[in-house]
Amino acid sequence: MRFIDELSLAGKKVLMRVDFNVPLDDNGNVTDDNRIRAAMPSIEYAIDSGAMLILCSHLGRPKGKKDPRFSLKPVADLLGVILNRDVTLAPDCVGDQVRALVEVMKPGECILLENLRYHSEEQANDPGFAGELAALADVYINDAFAVSHRAHASVVGVPEFVKECGAGLLLKKELSYFKKAMENPARPLVAILGGAKVSSKLGAIENILQKVDKLIVGGAMANTFLAASGFGVGRSLVEADLLDTARSIMARATKRGVKFYLPVDCLVAEGLGPDFTVEAVTSQEIPEDKMALDIGPASITLFEEALRDVETIVWNGPMGAFEVEAFAGGTQALAHAVGASDALSIIGGGDTDHAVHMAGEKENVSYMSTGGGAFLRLLEGKELPGIKALGRCGARRHGE
Ligand code: 3PG
Repeated sequence: MRFIDELSLAGKKVLMRVDFNVPLDDNGNVTDDNRIRAAMPSIEYAIDSGAMLILCSHLGRPKGKKDPRFSLKPVADLLGVILNRDVTLAPDCVGDQVRALVEVMKPGECILLENLRYHSEEQANDPGFAGELAALADVYINDAFAVSHRAHASVVGVPEFVKECGAGLLLKKELSYFKKAMENPARPLVAILGGAKVSSKLGAIENILQKVDKLIVGGAMANTFLAASGFGVGRSLVEADLLDTARSIMARATKRGVKFYLPVDCLVAEGLGPDFTVEAVTSQEIPEDKMALDIGPASITLFEEALRDVETIVWNGPMGAFEVEAFAGGTQALAHAVGASDALSIIGGGDTDHAVHMAGEKENVSYMSTGGGAFLRLLEGKELPGIKALGRCGARRHGE
């Protein structure tokens, strides 16, 4: 796999897959431009190299239909402002009009194709669609880390059809931080996992157990581990079918010498509404009619203590129902603890990213990944289909 800065781009048409899947408000304004800014080094590199840059992305899930609510127009406008130059939004991503637009491009110019997911062929990885996209360009660059876990046409299909492929600078940065944290980490290495379900993180837990020195589990997924340890967890969210799995994970952690941290107390209430009384109880004393919705003060102290001597931190998933103010304290406290740490800290996943922003700790962590699903896939120890596709393109070039 080669990177964009190893390719000669001058005078070439470059199709760059970016992930501009950004949140919009009701008026269609971009409310978080992180992903756009994260792609700027590759975009600027291509423009400065004299490429004719054709950007493509999805936005939301329009389900194969042209739906103006998912138009990339606000993104094109914002990109124009950031770049201080005109960025034309093509009326579609394939077809005669797009080909005509690309045909007259000059070196240093940049256009953005309309939402790839207006065509169901994108998610179906239709070879005809991928071929049509590929035919627009001489070189394909994947800088869309956050969508590289999807085997979609613009991610894995296009590299089958173009002569030259490479990874963008964001992809390079994401992979190199991840490698630093998980493949050759400064130790102790701690992983913090949170969120609602053990089932969605099972693959990650299994893989992480082989690598970490400490594992901190919070969020509703901790309830399943508490229940598996024999604690009554009241009406808390529990995956009853995973109790044996949870026990086996804890047994393997013990066997490997991984220090396994669960909440020792939690904030409980009858539900998430403002009318319910919130109280802190020990994990052994969760009332039968209540549910655990955040980690409690003693757990915060325990987790802070567990982070004190570590050299590397990988964090995915909140500690509680942080979107409700009453239950945001645990995740915020952890964000402050990670922000205050001198360890290399890598954060992935939309919720965790949001929580770290809310806590004002964004500048104090080493790296915030732009990926949610893609980050989790790496935590599972799996290769991303988008990266594999770049590898296959490279192998073809070498006649392998
Ligand atoms: C994301 O936001 O995680 C990526 O853009 C992928 O989007 P998707 O989950 O709709 O494929």
